[in-house]
Order: sequence, then structure tokens, then C-alpha cells
Amino acid sequence: MAFDPPEGAETSRRGYDRSMDLRSREDFLASFNRCRASAGFLAAFYERFVASSDEIRAKFAGTDMTRQVRMLEDSLYVIAVAVQGEEGSLARADLPRIAARHSRNDLNIRSELYDLWLECLIDTARSHDPQFSAGLEAAWRDTLAFGIQYMRSRY
Ligand code: HEM
Repeated sequence: MAFDPPEGAETSRRGYDRSMDLRSREDFLASFNRCRASAGFLAAFYERFVASSDEIRAKFAGTDMTRQVRMLEDSLYVIAVAVQGEEGSLARADLPRIAARHSRNDLNIRSELYDLWLECLIDTARSHDPQFSAGLEAAWRDTLAFGIQYMRSRY
């Protein structure tokens, strides 16, 4: 699967600093790929996330974690690509469905739980990417902020 920006992506969202977005996204993807190359990264994230609160543990009761790990892996790529994709692009097509699934009418994922999600993901990345740094942490935050903001806006 290729993640090169489509032609003209840099100018697709007016009034926004595209070059900064793209740099963060590239750094995020490189770090994410190193994490994925290190055994058990996403399983370690879920272990940490589920242990972080009773509410989260309850949400995942009965979840097939093998499938869940794969879904999350895919959706992190969706977010990274959507950061620079146009409204209505293929990469963004999945996000409304994922957001609706997390909304108050379905899984009912409160806004605060996204903070825990992000902190657990970053802590796990820190222990799995040998090159992790403050700059890379900022790239993870910048890239994922888009997805989190999107999900929260559709709660
Ligand atoms: C931006 C952040 C997040 C992303 C990208 C994400 C992504 C996903 C995806 C792709 C799925 C699978 C949806 C499907 O079945 O088609 C899923 C399911 C789920 N997510 Fe999230 N998620 C996020 C945040 C959270 C948070 C903060 C929670 C809080 C507990 C959460 C709890 C769940 C649960 C309980 C499921 C359903 C598991 C099941 O089917 O049993 N997610 N998520």
C-alpha cells in the first residue's frame, strides 16, 4: 500500500500550513512503521489502554482483540493519509463510519477517553520505537490530533 500524497494535496485545504502537516505525517509514519516492526506493539498498546481505566476495560469486554488490533492499525493509516487528503477523498471515506461507531448512539466514547487513548499510544510508541524523541512525539500528536478532533466533533 502506498501513502504518497496525491498530486496537489499541498494546496487542498486553503488557509492551513500544509508543509508542516506533511512533515509531521512523514515523521509519524516512519515512527509508526518502526513500532510495527517491533513485536507486539499494538497488543501492548491495548494492554496498557485497557488497564488504564475500568470504563475502558468495560468497553472492550467481549471484543476480539486480534481483529481489533488489525482495525486500529488500518485506521491509524487512514488518519495519517486523511490529514493531507481532500474532503471526499478515498482515505477520508472510512472516517465517518468509524466516528459514527464511537458516537453517543453506539459505543458512546466520551471526549476524555481520547486523551487516555493518545497518552497510552504515545507511551507505547516510546517503548517500541528505538528512535523515539520529543520531535517524534510532537509528530504523533500533530497527526493524531486530526483524527481525534474529527471523532470528537461527531460524538
Ligand atoms: C482516534 C482514536 C480512535 C480510532 C482511530 C479508533 C478506531 C477504531 C476502529 C477502526 C474500530 C473498529 C470499528 C469497526 O468495528 O468497524 C474501533 C472499535 C472500537 N473502539 Fe476505537 N478508535 C479510537 C478511539 C477509541 C477510544 C478512545 C475508545 C475508548 C474506549 C475506543 C473504543 C473502541 C471500542 C470499544 C470498539 C469496539 C470493539 C468491538 O467491536 O468489540 N476507541 N475503534
